[in-house]
Amino acid sequence: MTLTCSEIASLVVLAVIGLRILIRVGILVWRKLIAPSFGLAIDLKSQGKWAVITGATGGIGKAYAEQLAERGIDIVLVARSVSALEEIATEIKQRYNVQVRTIEANLSEGAPVFAKIAKATEDLEVGVVVNNAGVSYDHPELFTELSTESVASILDVNVIAMAGISKVFLPKMFERRKGVLINISSILAYVPSPYLSVYGASKAFVKKLSYDLAAEAEPRGVTVQCVCPGIVATKMTKIKKSTWMAPTPEKYVEASLKTVGIEECTTGYLTHYLLASIIQGLNCVCEKGTIWLISRTMCNLRARGIKRNQKKLNKSEKESVATE
Ligand SMILES: NC(=O)c1ccc[n+]([C@@H]2O[C@H](COP(=O)([O-])OP(=O)(O)OC[C@H]3O[C@@H](n4cnc5c(N)ncnc54)[C@H](OP(=O)(O)O)[C@@H]3O)[C@@H](O)[C@H]2O)c1
Repeated sequence: MTLTCSEIASLVVLAVIGLRILIRVGILVWRKLIAPSFGLAIDLKSQGKWAVITGATGGIGKAYAEQLAERGIDIVLVARSVSALEEIATEIKQRYNVQVRTIEANLSEGAPVFAKIAKATEDLEVGVVVNNAGVSYDHPELFTELSTESVASILDVNVIAMAGISKVFLPKMFERRKGVLINISSILAYVPSPYLSVYGASKAFVKKLSYDLAAEAEPRGVTVQCVCPGIVATKMTKIKKSTWMAPTPEKYVEASLKTVGIEECTTGYLTHYLLASIIQGLNCVCEKGTIWLISRTMCNLRARGIKRNQKKLNKSEKESVATE
């Protein structure tokens, strides 16, 4: 059987496409399953003696602090609540036998607070920084209904502090040609997020900044990773019971730390990756339908949030009347 030129050309094109798909699937399986399971992530202890974690008094930040301490790394905890900082510091010192420093800092205060953190850590060899502190909405809400203060607070912490803290620690890492900067974004950085618009946009900034910083850092021996979680059972999401889709912060961070140095930008957790892929796939097939579906879900969550807040208000009004 002889093939015509156009048939040969079609076969070559098909073979190239097939090969490309195979390579992509191979890379995906390597990054998502094989490399993390075989412990091929960066040895974080080798990057420096200390790790700095912002927003370390709860949720994902606390889990990073504990799991880095478990690796024998000394820890600097940054957050606003002094009592929570002290409590977690004591717990980590006792359990993991590492040094712990605490820095009380309101990251929405900008430059003076970044200077305070720089001063409090200037004598330390900081090998790992986790830019985790973040602020979101109380519940999904229309952009026009947000207070100016709430918009400012989200941007100050999620955007300005993210860049500010990176600016404090990256220069020394570049000098030492060693270090890992982990920036916590969100799955909402790349899937539609109506009714969480400012939060989603702030996390898109984190993803873009991390992407470009990673390119600047790599030739200087430094790794920048952007972590984009789906839903994690923390105070922020008000989810108390973990599920297969909303893991505990401990479970989430355990999985996510296995990807450092393997994935530059990761959801950090397999089911979150599947969720993101499904939404992105739907978005490719029918953008309007996907946005409608997400908007509907957000509106339901918004209605529940408003009802919950109204109940709280009624309860506190009743209590204050009773005490008068
Ligand atoms: N949970 C999720 O499902 C989810 C999903 C995607 C992305 N994320 C991201 O993951 C990160 C951690 O979220 P989480 O759920 O663990 O939140 P969380 O439980 O609410 O904890 C937030 C932490 O940030 C600190 N923080 C808040 N505002 C601060 C400020 N102005 N200055 C200093 N520290 C501040 C809080 O401590 P103090 O109150 O003591 O200051 C707390 O330690 C955030 O960046 C969030 O956007 C979370």
